[in-house]
Amino acid sequence: MDIHEQNRYGPAESVGGSEGLEENHARSRLAAIEQALRESQVRFAGIIDSAMDAIISVDESQRVVLFNAAAERVFGCPAAEALGRPLDRFIPARYRTAHRGHVRAFARTGVTSRTMGKLGELSGLRADGREFPIEASISQTEVGGAKLFTVILRDITQRKAAEAELNRSQEELRALAARLQQAREDEALRIARELHDQLGRCLTTLKLDVGSIERGLRAGLADESGRAGLLEAAQRMGQALDETVQTVRRISAELRPGVLDDLGLSAAIEWQAKEFQKRSGVACVARLPEEDPPLSREQATALFRIFQESLTNVARHAQASTVWVHLAEEAGGRVTLEIEDDGVGLSPATLAERRTLGLLGMRERAAAFGGEVEVTGSPGRGVAVLVRMPVGAPGEEDLDR
Ligand SMILES: Nc1ncnc2c1ncn2[C@@H]1O[C@H](COP(=O)(O)OP(=O)(O)OP(=O)(O)O)[C@@H](O)[C@H]1O
Ligand SMILES: [Mg+2]
Repeated sequence: MDIHEQNRYGPAESVGGSEGLEENHARSRLAAIEQALRESQVRFAGIIDSAMDAIISVDESQRVVLFNAAAERVFGCPAAEALGRPLDRFIPARYRTAHRGHVRAFARTGVTSRTMGKLGELSGLRADGREFPIEASISQTEVGGAKLFTVILRDITQRKAAEAELNRSQEELRALAARLQQAREDEALRIARELHDQLGRCLTTLKLDVGSIERGLRAGLADESGRAGLLEAAQRMGQALDETVQTVRRISAELRPGVLDDLGLSAAIEWQAKEFQKRSGVACVARLPEEDPPLSREQATALFRIFQESLTNVARHAQASTVWVHLAEEAGGRVTLEIEDDGVGLSPATLAERRTLGLLGMRERAAAFGGEVEVTGSPGRGVAVLVRMPVGAPGEEDLDR
């Protein structure tokens, strides 16, 4: 009873004789205690039920005596069905015996609480029979001489899935980094070979012919045949120089098409489309905007490389007769690049298999600028690669700064 109540009912002495007085006093004290107990129970139940984690208490025979709202949600089972029944139904069958043993061993330790599953993963069993990973702690208290065990547990399905996703994407990135490194090595090897074979051959020809011209000049160009020989050498040199110029142009264009920097993305795509058509025999039809979209140099490079990678895929896998490329600027500040072929297409299984590095590399390139790549296709109906990229999105370089 609180002070206000005493005030409201006035001093107890004024009611009657001293025995009646004490009896009254005891009754009202009992009522107040009962009221306080009820309130405390309601508060306790409120706290237990508002907990985010599932809370389940069991008695010594491991029958459920408390099952909060979160437990109902997690296990998909109303408290009314759980109370008074064995805890076993929430534990996958293969763990039940071990679990009982653990709880008994825990009881013997007398430790008040500890986390569970130190030795391995824990699983719960939902009412519908599905298993799920949990994280749990157990505590024990003694009430009226009987032990009460309380398990507080959390469904960690989502966290596990997020961890698995994170691991997978890290693995993908590692594979991609290794692949980029390999690609760089391959590129260096290819260029070294071209320099050696093509340019080396041309330069050797030039050297030999310069030598023979020099010797002819020293000899004084006496006769007709001597002069004809020099003329031939000079002509060969001219050819070798033409070839050299072409080879240098080709190698440098393959490394990075100058047209991309000089004339922009549309012109570079057009150039690449023609080159591709010439080399592969697959018709390449380009539909390009009159004005280049307002992309940064890095964004244009990314789109251009995605385009090249798509063409490589068409050449390697599609057996297509035509490939269409469409670059456009959409309202709302987005650029789209679509590369579509009429080849053998893709099975959904291939599309679902996300580990292929070519497509992953395209996605990563686009993602670096807030863009995305969508690949669609079905067997016999060709493949379409659609890239969407916001214009003016910060690139990797800007972010680094
Ligand atoms: N245009 C296409 N037509 C048909 N199949 C395609 C096409 N593009 C891709 N594919 C299929 O998708 C798979 C994945 O392509 P991706 O570019 O990721 O890998 P890849 O070309 O096999 O190898 P790389 O890592 O060298 O690029 C290919 O192996 C191929 O089966
Ligand atoms: Mg590829």
